[in-house]
Amino acid sequence: MVQDLRSFLEKFEQLFPREVLRIDRELNPEYEPSAVIMELERDRRYPVVFFENIRGSAFPVVANVLATRQRLALALGARPENAAEVFAERIKSAVPPQRIPEAPFQKNRLDGAALNLSTFPILTHFPVDAGPYVTAGLVMARDPESGVDTCGYHRMQLKGADKLGVSLHSRQRLWEYLRRAEQAGRNLEAAVVIGVHPALALGSMALIPYDQGKFDRIGGLLGAPLQVTPCRDIDLDVPTGAEIVIEGEILANCHEPEGPFAEFTDYASYRSTENVFRAKSIHYRDQALYQSITPARSADHVTIVAVHREGELRRALHQTLPNVRQVHAPLSACGLFHCYLALEKTAEGQPMQAILAALAVDHNIKLVIVVDADIDVFDEARVLWAVATRVQADRDVLIIPQHQGMGCTLDPSSDDLSRSAKMGIDATKPLSGFARGIDPDPAAQAKARQLLQEIGTS
Ligand SMILES: Cc1cc2nc3c(=O)[nH]c(=O)nc-3n(C[C@H](O)[C@H](O)[C@H](O)COP(=O)(O)O)c2cc1C
Repeated sequence: MVQDLRSFLEKFEQLFPREVLRIDRELNPEYEPSAVIMELERDRRYPVVFFENIRGSAFPVVANVLATRQRLALALGARPENAAEVFAERIKSAVPPQRIPEAPFQKNRLDGAALNLSTFPILTHFPVDAGPYVTAGLVMARDPESGVDTCGYHRMQLKGADKLGVSLHSRQRLWEYLRRAEQAGRNLEAAVVIGVHPALALGSMALIPYDQGKFDRIGGLLGAPLQVTPCRDIDLDVPTGAEIVIEGEILANCHEPEGPFAEFTDYASYRSTENVFRAKSIHYRDQALYQSITPARSADHVTIVAVHREGELRRALHQTLPNVRQVHAPLSACGLFHCYLALEKTAEGQPMQAILAALAVDHNIKLVIVVDADIDVFDEARVLWAVATRVQADRDVLIIPQHQGMGCTLDPSSDDLSRSAKMGIDATKPLSGFARGIDPDPAAQAKARQLLQEIGTS
C-alpha cells in the first residue's frame, strides 16, 4: 500500500477525475482559498482542490483531502459504508514501524537564517482567526517516560519565522507527554508533519493506552509497517512519505496568547492551552504539497472526526455488546458530540449498558441515543421518530449533571472547567408487548414499484 499523499491523490484522480479541481488563478492566502471550499460546500460539493497559485508562495495548497467517507474508505481499501468498521478492526493490531534511513522530504532543508515558516502558503481561513494557521500539521513526539511515539493534529498559529502557537485542548497524549517533559524540566522535542496519506490521518486519531506507540497502530491500520525516517536535528522518527517536516520542540512552561480560531464546532474558540513550538529546521520534498484542512465545520475537518468516532465506539461497544449493529456519529453534532447506536436488543437493560460504555469512550461524547436495529441510524429523521414514539423521558433518559462530567473544551456550552453534562436516551421498544409497526402488502408493493418504473417515475 502506498504511504504518501501524492501517490494517494494520483490514484484518486485516476479513479475519480471529476472529483479533483485545480485552480490556477492567483488567490490571496487570506480568506480566499477557504471561501472557495465553503462555497463548494454550500453546493454540497467536496472535490479535492489544488490551489496552484497562492500569492507569496511557490508551493501549491491541497485541501479537502479528508472531506468524504469515500476518500477515507479508499485510503483503507474499504467501502464507504464500512470504513469505520474496518478502522475498528484493524486499529486493534500493532505492526511495528520500519525504519528507512533516507526520505524524499530530506531533499530540501531550511535552517539558520534561511528558516522561514512563511516559505509555505500558510492560510488565514476566516476573519475571526488570530492569523495564519497550519491546520493539517500532524504533531509527532515521544513520551518522556515510556519513549513511545504519538502523533495528532493540532492547530498551529503562525507567530514568526520559526515560531508557532499551539493548542493542546483535546488533552490527550501530546498534552500529557508535554506535562511529563515539564515535570522533568525539559522541552518536548516535536516534529510537525504536513501532507500525509489519509490512512495516517485517521490512525493519528486512535485512542490507545498512553504507553503504546501510535505508529504501531497505524501499521495495523495500513496492514503493513509504517515507514518512518529519523529526523536530522531531533531524536524522533517521522513518516517517510511526508511532504513537509518541521523539526523543533514545544517549550516547557511557556505560554503565549493563541487564537481565536474558527473551530469545528462552527464557533470561534478563544480557549487554548497557549503552548509554543519553536522550529529548528524545515525539510521538504521537491514540489512539496502543502496540505490544508479548512477549519470551522467543514467536511474536511469533521468527516474524519466522525469516522474515527464511529470506529472507536464500535471497538469499545463490541467488547461486551456484539449485538450493536450500526454506529453513527452525525455531522449535525460536529462528528464528535452525539452518537446513535442501533442495537439488536436481546435483554432489557442492554441499552443502558451501551449508553454507559459509549459515554466512557472519551470525554467528548455528550449524547447517546440507542434505537432498535429496525432504525437506520444514518437517517436522522428515523432516529428522531424512534425518540418520538418509543421514549418516555422520566423512564428512558439518563442525565449526568454538568458538574460531574468531563467535557470538550471547545464546546461553547461547557463551563470554564470544560465540564459537560451527559445524556443517554433509550429509544428501544420493550422486548415484548409494544405497538405493532406498519408494513406494506408485499405483493402490492412489488406491483407499485413495477408500475412506477413503467410510467417512468422511478
Ligand atoms: C483537523 C483536526 C484538527 C485538530 N486540532 C486539534 C487541536 O488544535 N488541538 C488538539 O488538542 N486536538 C486537535 N485535534 C484532535 C487531535 O488531533 C486528536 O485528539 C489526536 O488523537 C490527539 O493526538 P494525541 O493523542 O497524540 O494527543 C484535531 C483533530 C483534527 C482531525
